[in-house]
Amino acid sequence: MPYRCRECGYRSPKWLGRCPQCGQWESFEEVGGAVDEGTAAGGGLPQILAAVPSAAGERLTTGMPEVDRVLGGLIPGAVVLFGGEPGVGKSTLLLQLAARLVAYGKVLYVSGEEAPAQVKLRAERLGIEGDSLYFQSEQELLAIVRAVKGLEPAVLVVDSLQTVLARPDGGEIGSLVQVREAAAQLARLAKGLGMVTFLVSHITKGGEFAGPKTVEHLVDVAVQLEGVREGELRLLRCAKNRFASTAEVAVLQMGPAGLSEVANPSLFFVSQDRAPKPGAAIVPVLEGSRTLLVEIQALVAPGGGVGPPQRRTAGLDLNRTLVLLAVIEKHLGVHVRAMDVYLAVAGGLEVREPAADLGVCAAILGSLRNRAIPADTVVVGEVGLAGDLRPVRKGPERLQEVAKLGFARAVVPSGPVPKRVRLEMVPCSTLREAMEALGLI
Ligand code: TYD
Ligand code: MG
Repeated sequence: MPYRCRECGYRSPKWLGRCPQCGQWESFEEVGGAVDEGTAAGGGLPQILAAVPSAAGERLTTGMPEVDRVLGGLIPGAVVLFGGEPGVGKSTLLLQLAARLVAYGKVLYVSGEEAPAQVKLRAERLGIEGDSLYFQSEQELLAIVRAVKGLEPAVLVVDSLQTVLARPDGGEIGSLVQVREAAAQLARLAKGLGMVTFLVSHITKGGEFAGPKTVEHLVDVAVQLEGVREGELRLLRCAKNRFASTAEVAVLQMGPAGLSEVANPSLFFVSQDRAPKPGAAIVPVLEGSRTLLVEIQALVAPGGGVGPPQRRTAGLDLNRTLVLLAVIEKHLGVHVRAMDVYLAVAGGLEVREPAADLGVCAAILGSLRNRAIPADTVVVGEVGLAGDLRPVRKGPERLQEVAKLGFARAVVPSGPVPKRVRLEMVPCSTLREAMEALGLI
């Protein structure tokens, strides 16, 4: 296709006055029929697959087990897109990982955003010396490629894609064309040299970024570092992984010396004293393949009488909560209509699973009745509109973890229960039964 939009890279066989993808006027220019070569490793001639040397056994690990469970061990040449909002800790974590990856050879950390002195300060703060860790402050892709060819590092970090100037005619730095071109060329370089490459990419809350989604197809692994509200907790999630399951999540904590692993993530979100509190319910939720116990807290109080009652949630879906309040009203005959209801997930985690429904209902009734659920009891189940209780995804796996963490009892939807789990199971087929079992109605 001989024409391409200067702004977003959209291709068209004929010149267009306005780009149908990004809406830019007069942005089409001729590209001379060139077709992207893609990023396939080796290029080259067909080979018998059986004769291709196996990359198994050569996986790079960072020595931070939490991070490794997400990255899944990187094979040489792997390209990892590392996304996150500004300030979340991408540069910090990557500098830490870079310092650990020197075990596999030279590591080159290129920053287009920070001067050597700035990075040095951070390295000192993180206690990093790193003899084989190289730093370069550079934005020109050509210069980065030249440095890579000279140094032959085992690992390259480019911080960030948005600050790489890939082509002189590609428009502003950070534009879609520049970012895509930079990612494509760096991916090709990584494959050609068998060099593990991390590409940092900024994501903004509004989602208007030149980044991850447009280059995801070029990379092998795409992860995202997320802050859990304003706290120090960080989750490293995987959006794509050609080498491992994408279901894994790492739980990390930002401290004065960078990011560290949280000792017992499953129990991180429930209070340590585990004293029973009216209006709280402990629910095993899934983050990736991992079961985390979270405490759902409710405060139900008579409304002010003027205007509709308040309904607020933090970390839970408000619409789902409104539905559950209607189910409570209708099927339990409990009046919550005129009450103000505030709900939160302790610790700031976002819980979007229907498996938390029963916990939400139990917390609401607990607060209303001022009765506490025993501290050794968890609840889990989806609540249907008919007041029925439904099984949840990976129920047995959740309960296995609950038992391991020292809980004694679980109120669960009726149905198959895991065998040989040291947990007293209380199967219920309706919300009413479950609330009765918990002594809340
Ligand atoms: P940074 O890695 O620069 O974020 P990003 O590259 O994603 O924009 O880190 C940003 C924040 O992390 C900054 O506000 C300071 C904080 N921080 C710590 O709390 N502890 C540390 O050891 C370091 C290096 C940074
Ligand atoms: Mg940074």
